[in-house]
Order: sequence, then structure tokens, then C-alpha cells
Amino acid sequence: MSHLEHLCCPLDQLPLERNERALVCPKGHAYDIAKTGYVNLLPVQKKHSKDPGDSKEMVASRREFLAKGHYDPVIQAILDSLPQPLQQMSDLSVFDAGCGEGHYLRQLSQQLRERTQLDAIGLDISKWAITDASKRDKQIDWIVGSNAHVPVADGRFDWVMCAFGFPVVSEFTRILKQQGWLLLVESGSDHLIELREILYPEIKSYQATFAEGLDGFVLKHELNHRFSFTLTDAEQIGQLLSMTPHIHKAPYEGRQAALALQMIDLTADIKLRWYQKQGKNNVE
Ligand SMILES: C[S@@+](CC[C@H](N)C(=O)[O-])C[C@H]1O[C@@H](n2cnc3c(N)ncnc32)[C@H](O)[C@@H]1O
Repeated sequence: MSHLEHLCCPLDQLPLERNERALVCPKGHAYDIAKTGYVNLLPVQKKHSKDPGDSKEMVASRREFLAKGHYDPVIQAILDSLPQPLQQMSDLSVFDAGCGEGHYLRQLSQQLRERTQLDAIGLDISKWAITDASKRDKQIDWIVGSNAHVPVADGRFDWVMCAFGFPVVSEFTRILKQQGWLLLVESGSDHLIELREILYPEIKSYQATFAEGLDGFVLKHELNHRFSFTLTDAEQIGQLLSMTPHIHKAPYEGRQAALALQMIDLTADIKLRWYQKQGKNNVE
């Protein structure tokens, strides 16, 4: 069962105490625990739109698509590249920043719980994503919140993961323990290239993120993981399109052409980068 412990009030950063139905801060701000067990720590004052993050439809598309296992090689690549110090921990705390409907954290947690005591939190700014996630794994703490102001105390996690999300490096530094690990999972240059060639008249050149490095971190390991998969009906192609930014960015003609397809062979090209927070003992 999830515990919702060691969280902070998003308004004054004071520690939250759990009572039966809510988390309450010493100044009286209260956050109800939803029936499915998640808590919304994104107060109206910190919202930049009425319904931030992925919509209900995008969440449903991602859930259906990921459930078919097309991206499960990403999970295996994360497990295979897990740094030794994390592998050896008997207690491991992990935070998934922008977890969506929780597919990756849920699958990773199931495997990691076989060998360690796991404290896992998934946070997303979309209430639809977190509602969905909280229905399917009751051992993980699910929080509606923003990467811009993560509602946890400093130095809480061994591992922060941000997959296809919106990294806020200063917050990730703050919430990681000394020598904690940050994993960034992003698209590589050839990711879904066959689909992009249909969507766009011209493919933009690839821009690497954080090419100049990350302040306060040492890049310890970087790998590109490529694999192929085939979508064999228009529904799955539509789901994939709806869960990517291309659904908003691609021109109308490109989207129509993609949605008319009945089959497509695709390349997944995923970049994984493991950074370690610089501490007294690992400054390079
Ligand atoms: C492309 S999805 C990736 C979801 C998940 N990590 C995955 O790979 O399946 C990006 C997610 O980031 C969320 N998001 C957008 N802005 C955010 C923010 N400021 N803080 C936390 N999550 C955010 C969206 O709601 C969406 O669920």
C-alpha cells in the first residue's frame, strides 16, 4: 500500500502529516487523498492552465499503446544499465518525474521489488495521468504536481528518472541524495524516423539536449538503444501519434497521411544518460 510519507506542502514547503483522508501541513493547508489513493499537490496558485499536462485522450492513447509492450525494451535497457551502487542497495528510493500513466515506473518497480525494499513516487502534472496510474499500482505513491516545484524535502531520493519528460535540473539536484543518480531517457536522432518522414515535408536536424553537460552532475554512462517494431493497424498508429508531440506539431496533411496507414515498420532510437550528483567524494 502507498504511504504518502515525507511529502511537503507545495505552498510553504512544511512537512505534511497524514490523517485518514488528507495530508495536512502545520499551517492548516489540507490536500485530500483521492479514492484511488493519489494526492493532488498542485495548488491552483501554481497552475499555469486549467487542465495542465497530457489530456484524458492522450493518457488513454499512451496507456493502450504501452500496454501492448512495444516500448518494453526501454524498461529492459534501464534495468540492464542500472548503476552498480543502485543495484546493491537493500533500500532504494526512486522518483519518476513526469511519470505519465505510470507504465515505466510500474514495470520497473515490479522487477526491483524482487531484490530491494522500494520507496517509489510517481509525479505528473496531469491529473488524468495520475488518476490512471493510481488505479493500477497501490504500492507506489502517485502525486499530481510539477517538476518545477517537487513537493518533497531535500536529499530524499537515490534515483530520479525523467523519461520523455520535462526535466528541471535544479529541482532534481535538490531532491537527490549526495551521489544520487539521475536518469534522462530521451529520443535519439532516428527515433520513429519512418513516421516522421510521413508527417513532415522535411526532417529537422537532431538537437542534443544538455550537450554542454549538467551543472552539479557527472555523466557516468550514456547509451543509445535501438530496436524495431511493427504496428499492424490504424488504431495503434493513431495511439502512437496521439502520445507524441507530433500530434500538435506536424502539419495537417502529414497527420492525415499517417492516420491513413494500416501498417508501419518503425525504428525506436532511445538515448539513456545516467548522471551522478557531484558530492564531496566524486568531484571530477
Ligand atoms: C511524453 S509524456 C511521458 C510520460 C512518461 N514518462 C512516459 O514516458 O510514458 C510527458 C509527461 O510529462 C507531463 N508533464 C508536462 N509538464 C510537466 C511538469 N511541469 N511537471 C511534471 N510533469 C509534466 C505530461 O503530463 C506527460 O504525462
